[in-house]
Amino acid sequence: MSDLNLLVVVSSTRPGRVGLPVSQWFVDAAKAHGGFQVSVADLAEENLPLLDEPHHPRLGRYQHDHTKRWSEKVAAADAIVFVIPEYNYSLGAATKNAIDYLHNEWRYKPASVVSYGGVSAGTRSAMALHAVAYGVNLFTISQQVNIPFVSNQIVEGRFDPSSTTESAANAMLDELRKVAEAMKPLRA
Ligand SMILES: Cc1cc2nc3c(=O)[nH]c(=O)nc-3n(C[C@H](O)[C@H](O)[C@H](O)COP(=O)(O)O)c2cc1C
Repeated sequence: MSDLNLLVVVSSTRPGRVGLPVSQWFVDAAKAHGGFQVSVADLAEENLPLLDEPHHPRLGRYQHDHTKRWSEKVAAADAIVFVIPEYNYSLGAATKNAIDYLHNEWRYKPASVVSYGGVSAGTRSAMALHAVAYGVNLFTISQQVNIPFVSNQIVEGRFDPSSTTESAANAMLDELRKVAEAMKPLRA
């Protein structure tokens, strides 16, 4: 059994979101990979309001239960994968908001994305996440999964990945595991 925890963040909160079947596929792929204990945080269920904490998150002086719950989940992770859509050439607001809520919980952890969209495969959203991650010492790795024309790959409500997508997921998880292990002393 792996000693490293991977948190998969389902980032789209829209009713009917494609993000759910894509996340379900990725969670299964991560479990089959075997490098991590896998847990899931669905931002639709976390239901975080627009940032409503009075103090800078660096201080950890959280006033609200929703923040304390979110903090605990992220703190328990050794690595994070955000499953992200691309909205207007960038990140969805829910993802940015969820990152802004916390600070030290992200520190010295490797992260990557499963991004999806139209022709861009969510890569502009992935680059936007990279910039935000920089602010909280969350280390995005370059190995990621980018899914173009995602809606064409939803069959009866399930995501049906191409072999390229499956290989990309395994390559990303291999690298994420390596970096999570190497950064462990920094998180101690
Ligand atoms: C507000 C909004 C903005 C969008 N902007 C983009 C975009 O910039 N690039 C893109 O490839 N797709 C864009 N799309 C299409 C999404 O890729 C597609 O709707 C996808 O299903 C969204 O993910 P979700 O269903 O998990 O929310 C946009 C969709 C919405 C709702």
